[in-house]
Amino acid sequence: MKEIKKITCIGAGYVGGPTMSVIAQKNPNVQVTVVDLNQARIDAWNDADLDNLPVYEPGLDAVVAEARGRNLFFSTDVNKAIDEADMIFISVNTPTKTYGKGKGQAADLKYIELCARQIASVAKNDKIVVEKSTLPVRTAAALKSILDNTGNGVNFQILSNPEFLAEGTAVTDLHNPDRVLIGGEDEEAVQALVGVYAAWVPRERILTTNLWSSELSKLVANAFLAQRVSSINAISELCEVTGANVDEVSRAIGHDSRIGPKFLKASVGFGGSCFQKDILNLVYIARTYNLTAVADYWEQVITLNDHQKARFAQNIIQTMYNTVNGKKIAFLGWAFKKDTNDTRESAAIYVADHLLEEEAHVVVYDPKVSAEQIYKDLDYLGSRSAEDNRRLVTVVNDPYEAIVDAHATAILTEWDEFKSYDWARIKQQMKKPAFVFDGRKLLDRKQLDALGFDYYAIGE
Ligand code: UDX
Ligand code: UDX
Ligand code: ADP
Repeated sequence: MKEIKKITCIGAGYVGGPTMSVIAQKNPNVQVTVVDLNQARIDAWNDADLDNLPVYEPGLDAVVAEARGRNLFFSTDVNKAIDEADMIFISVNTPTKTYGKGKGQAADLKYIELCARQIASVAKNDKIVVEKSTLPVRTAAALKSILDNTGNGVNFQILSNPEFLAEGTAVTDLHNPDRVLIGGEDEEAVQALVGVYAAWVPRERILTTNLWSSELSKLVANAFLAQRVSSINAISELCEVTGANVDEVSRAIGHDSRIGPKFLKASVGFGGSCFQKDILNLVYIARTYNLTAVADYWEQVITLNDHQKARFAQNIIQTMYNTVNGKKIAFLGWAFKKDTNDTRESAAIYVADHLLEEEAHVVVYDPKVSAEQIYKDLDYLGSRSAEDNRRLVTVVNDPYEAIVDAHATAILTEWDEFKSYDWARIKQQMKKPAFVFDGRKLLDRKQLDALGFDYYAIGE
């Protein structure tokens, strides 16, 4: 078996950073170098103060502390790292295309292609190239064709090794994965990567498949997970009009071992960098092959998610006597889920956008998200000018400041700390009637009813 001594990862983001930190932690004899073009990001990974790591993940600081400087390095010298490595992970971002053919659906592969070209131009000896980013099926073929046509006689083996970690639990997911998936045609290369993971993952959880199955499985896993959320969210709307309670329905169906209890939590809508992007990608691929029924089927998962976000905002407006103009609405949470500072595709952005259209004054508190990020998210939508976003939205560092004199409080992220707030004090400080719209079913209805709130939760 080919023994791997030096690994390079291109892309020091939410996936590359934590994954390589754990690989380095568990393989002290392998030198792991993570490179990125973004100097500020690399500086943050190298910051002596571990609170300044660019990715917030519970437990990540301890992993970095253990490995960094020993066999884990962060650098902007991409060429040197490529040259030295036996194995190169590509973990750059693959956003949905914002232009041209496949706009709004297909994955933009320009960053991947740039990486491949850079690897091709620098490499002087044989290398194993591992796709870590989520990619459309058959990207490996494109990678291979770029790498094989460089003419400098270097052999490249391509593997697909999709990441299944969820943000907020990245370190536990990496330490104890349900499975590791490795797709590839060359058995020696596959076994080399199996060897890296076998340092801590039981063999029976390391699955090997062909390249295309591995690439497709990543899209399908995310599509199925997102579909579960949209399915329960569709039922939440039905519960609201019929008097059933969606949590009770989830519990009842989740006891069926064929369905299972996880991922059945109704919410204001799923977010994150993966679900929407991967489904759009699946839809795009299906349409490319003229599989209209298949494409339409999966597209509904997104349609329902958009509907869920819109109807949450609509319910706030309707309940508050059909006008929120000039009213202060406190947002608790902006991240797409708890325990992360990531806001990509967060439902909060879209709910805020609807309310801002109605000239509401939104005041946001999130324990981990900066004001700069919140304005960036809103500006990115392009619904109104940057000045208007700053005029209508205020970001505060103290939750009680968000709530004082608010006409309504909306819970957008399920941060644990929101549960332990002094809700009696909040009731006193809010305008009356004190409306609470709980997009995460986080708070205790009995407690809020008893305190005299007008409490609305998804699916009740
Ligand atoms: C997801 C996949 O879980 C992970 O395997 C893959 O590698 C990347 O995409 P992530 O996006 O980090 O991970 O978070 P996840 O926990 O899956 O949540 C996605 C969204 O769904 C969040 O907005 C979350 O709040 C929402 N969600 C999840 C629900 O609304 N209800 C649920 O029951 C579960
Ligand atoms: C179903 C429910 O399982 C049961 O809980 C309920 O009380 C009645 O409806 P049933 O219709 O008897 O039971 O059979 P089931 O095993 O669920 O199969 C239903 C159909 O789905 C069959 O045609 C089966 O072949 C098909 N199926 C099931 C698949 O095609 N693939 C699968 O993975 C499972
Ligand atoms: P993910 O969630 O997939 O990890 P991120 O956006 O968090 O996505 O991280 C991807 C990283 O890849 C970014 O920090 C970006 O600067 C980096 N990147 C993109 N293209 C290149 C490249 N050609 N060389 C080095 N780094 C790159």
